[in-house]
Amino acid sequence: MTDLYAVFGNPIAHSKSPLIHAAFAAASGQDMCYEARLAAVDGFFQAISQFVADGGKGANVTVPFKEEAFRLATRLSERAARAGAVNTLAFDGQAIFGDNTDGAGLVADLTGNLACPLAGKRILLLGAGGASRGVIAPLLAERPASLFIANRSADKALALAAAFADVAPVEAGSFGETAGKSFDLVINATSASLAGEALPLPPGIFAAGCLAYDMMYGKGETPFLRQASEQGAARCADGLGMLVEQAAEAFRVWRGLRPATAPVLATLRAGLAG
Ligand code: ATR
Repeated sequence: MTDLYAVFGNPIAHSKSPLIHAAFAAASGQDMCYEARLAAVDGFFQAISQFVADGGKGANVTVPFKEEAFRLATRLSERAARAGAVNTLAFDGQAIFGDNTDGAGLVADLTGNLACPLAGKRILLLGAGGASRGVIAPLLAERPASLFIANRSADKALALAAAFADVAPVEAGSFGETAGKSFDLVINATSASLAGEALPLPPGIFAAGCLAYDMMYGKGETPFLRQASEQGAARCADGLGMLVEQAAEAFRVWRGLRPATAPVLATLRAGLAG
């Protein structure tokens, strides 16, 4: 029987996950189907119960349900426990395994697709919400020279840095407190561009050869990447590769093999360009 998977979110209609996982399944010969399911904002647990009753084997979880998925899991991976959020669920009888593949997806995109090793790099992470929290431990595991978390509300950045202090020293502060420093990699994990707002980034933070990375993506250049190239970033990348790589990590959790990502990424990129 064909194994059933789905992504849950609200909204969900424009999710690319069904297309990505269908391509992975076809390329790796896995007998599975993958749907997008809309859950009511207050109906996530109910939607998951129904899905499990329907025979669902696993699920991806996106905005705004990642914290609820974290609470729903009966067992967590270490990286999900660290992230405080779950984007991948696997169902086995009464047991619900929760994982978080976002950080691994980001690191795979940076180190693999973008050929940007992180060891020894000075990294600036912009934002201190869920998107930021989910990637900190995987970034630190690559042994960068330093990690600075900057946020509009500096207190949230400081709290986040403190939460990871046992892993490695992490600096934190307001955007203004990055003045006078420079970085080899600047990652945007804020949702500022959704509001069309530029970030108050001091001049000079982009070191020579710096890669600016936006976890967001869309048609054309994102507002953050436009700002970064105007301020001197040498290279820019959006989050489409992270999307495909986090999906490949989830696929591995469910199916035990990691599918090739390059063909799917190329197809999605062509779709965005068209
Ligand atoms: P997510 O789960 O996507 O990270 P979130 O938890 O709501 O969402 O966090 C949004 C992040 O974007 C926060 O770091 C937020 O800054 P504050 O903590 O100061 O609110 C940041 N953000 C949102 N809009 C922003 C803006 N216009 N300028 C700067 N930062 C912004």
